[in-house]
Amino acid sequence: MKTESLTTQSRKVVSNQAAEHDNLTEIVSKHLATDFQRPIAQHNIEAYQYAISQINKPHIIFDSGCGNGKSTLNLAARYPEAFIIGIDKSHHRLTKLANKSDAANNYCLVRADLIDFWRLAANDNIKLLHHFILYPNPWPKKHHLKRRWHGSPVFKQILALGGMIELRSNWQMYLEEFSIALSLVNCSATVQALTLAKKDYISDFEAKYHSSEQTLWQLNANLDIDSD
Ligand SMILES: C[S@@+](CC[C@H](N)C(=O)[O-])C[C@H]1O[C@@H](n2cnc3c(N)ncnc32)[C@H](O)[C@@H]1O
Repeated sequence: MKTESLTTQSRKVVSNQAAEHDNLTEIVSKHLATDFQRPIAQHNIEAYQYAISQINKPHIIFDSGCGNGKSTLNLAARYPEAFIIGIDKSHHRLTKLANKSDAANNYCLVRADLIDFWRLAANDNIKLLHHFILYPNPWPKKHHLKRRWHGSPVFKQILALGGMIELRSNWQMYLEEFSIALSLVNCSATVQALTLAKKDYISDFEAKYHSSEQTLWQLNANLDIDSD
């Protein structure tokens, strides 16, 4: 998907996939059965250590792919008993939000690649209260399947981090596939259309997609009680 300005109207996701990917089950099963060996970059280790050193609450929430961090701030206000770690690989996005709230001290924003950050956290046996993955890049072309989080080798670490997971997307198929991937570890998820009022927008991408009259979708699952 092309990166779009937040001020412009956004187009619906266009995909050459009419249903879930034919190879979805095979690829997810293969990743679940193998270890992901790619070395972890030093800058991601440093970002992870910094984030962990900031935790000042008994519970941890990840806002994975937090963009400019607006959702991280919203989550910090919504969950005062938890520490929210907003993670994004884009320095440009992370530094974009002019008004970072000083009212909340229960969050931090870090620049890191989630592929490494999630592996570091799972290796440390971090257990999340909630895990938000809001509007992940859809990678809608068929040959992009392995770039979607459920098609990636790091899906196993997403499961290991546990918690109540919530994904939101403007592409229903992404969430239906994620749900099928979860079913392979006996975890049931709900996928439903999201009804929203303007005042409840959690992130800038949510605002952009919703104000372009796109249907938004939400997946919820409890990774603690259901998964193997
Ligand atoms: C469509 S934007 C959504 C941003 C935000 N969640 C929102 O709703 O406004 C997807 C975000 O995921 C981030 N992202 C994609 N792949 C990533 C990765 N491997 N590691 C960290 N961030 C990643 C991008 O930099 C981008 O900011």
